[in-house]
Amino acid sequence: MIGENMINDIDRVLISEEELSAIVIRLGEQISIDYKGKDLLLVGILKGSVMFMSDIMRSITIPCEIDFMAVSSYGSGTVTSGEVKIIKDLDRRLEGKDLLIIEDILDSGVTLSYIKEILMARKPKSIKICTLFDKPDRRKAEIFADYIGSKVPDEFIVGYGLDYDEYYRNLPYIGALKRSVYQK
Ligand code: IMP
Ligand code: MG
Repeated sequence: MIGENMINDIDRVLISEEELSAIVIRLGEQISIDYKGKDLLLVGILKGSVMFMSDIMRSITIPCEIDFMAVSSYGSGTVTSGEVKIIKDLDRRLEGKDLLIIEDILDSGVTLSYIKEILMARKPKSIKICTLFDKPDRRKAEIFADYIGSKVPDEFIVGYGLDYDEYYRNLPYIGALKRSVYQK
């Protein structure tokens, strides 16, 4: 079974729990300054952003609402299929809201550019993107994040919400997955 021997499947720790915590605090402080007096709605993209969302909302010190959206683009592979499907939509109307999309990782950018486009059509007051990780080398779509936790190399990473075939999300740090796990 994939993930049976979770820790052995990790090549090395890329970003430790302490480093993640420092990244999240820095982003939360900046967002709290930038969105002061605005009508902030954090939109977490499930499931990858689950840990990032729960941590960053606690480091944001201004009033805000949260909502979640689930999309799928990957299946079980490690490269994007280019197809994005809404699995769970937002519960609320977006008019007048200052939306901040909370995403785990910006890779090809196909997922986020699609999400941004459909949310923009619902006429929020503003819309920005906060991604924990950015893999700029792999970008296919013309999209940039407004807040970036850290740039990461072109390697498949797991943990802190990020999965490979739905496993490894519960690792508390970010690890690079051994190539032998996904190159079978
Ligand atoms: P994009 O459409 O190629 O930008 O894909 C973004 C999505 O792919 C992210 O939200 C992740 O769910 C997934 N993804 C991309 N790279 C990685 C990775 O290194 N590890 C785990 N998931 C990834
Ligand atoms: Mg994923």
